[in-house]
Amino acid sequence: MQYTIKMPRIEDGKAMWAIARDTNVLDTNSPYAYLLACTHFKATSAVALKDGEVVGFTMAYTLPDSPERLFVWQIGVHPAHHGNGIGLSMLIHLVTRENCSHITHLDATISPENTPSNNLFKKLATVLDTIISNEPYFNQHHFPSGNQIEHYISVGPIKNKTKEEII
Ligand SMILES: CC(C)(COP(=O)(O)OP(=O)(O)OC[C@H]1O[C@@H](n2cnc3c(N)ncnc32)[C@H](O)[C@@H]1OP(=O)(O)O)[C@@H](O)C(=O)NCCC(=O)NCCS
Repeated sequence: MQYTIKMPRIEDGKAMWAIARDTNVLDTNSPYAYLLACTHFKATSAVALKDGEVVGFTMAYTLPDSPERLFVWQIGVHPAHHGNGIGLSMLIHLVTRENCSHITHLDATISPENTPSNNLFKKLATVLDTIISNEPYFNQHHFPSGNQIEHYISVGPIKNKTKEEII
């Protein structure tokens, strides 16, 4: 693949923010939130680079009460680079990263209407030879806009043996 995937650096925060904005799908968090992903959560986050430019990012953290679960807060790929395998590669990169060897599940919340994202996580489950669960989590009463719904999805169990096989 023509893309390099690595841990984010503090200099990548601005580009991550801009990609989130340019997807027209993701909530654009504050620039500060992306800087935290590049610092506090860099060990569990990733950026995809092409010719040194950030074209995709995944910000994720381990759940404080369940550190074996890696929760993907946001994943975004610049629209010009969709469909090139970047999203899937970033997720595989994270679950196979040396410091993530203890991770057994990769979790996220997704709108049921977000077909690309739902298919991305289903594809990850297939590649990892495991299952994906999906259940309602945040409903319209939890959001100020009153029309957003998010389901909790979980991909796993991800066995270390599986990780070794896909590297
Ligand atoms: C979701 C997103 C990150 C996918 O990134 P991507 O690099 O384009 O995805 P990949 O090329 O790695 O695709 C992996 C799989 O995802 C699914 N997929 C990706 N884009 C899809 C689309 N437009 N329609 C349907 N399925 C899609 C497919 O199953 C694909 O596997 P395949 O190519 O073998 O069919 C990207 O579409 C994006 O940034 N969307 C806007 C932000 C967003 O919705 N983020 C997720 C919020 S939870």
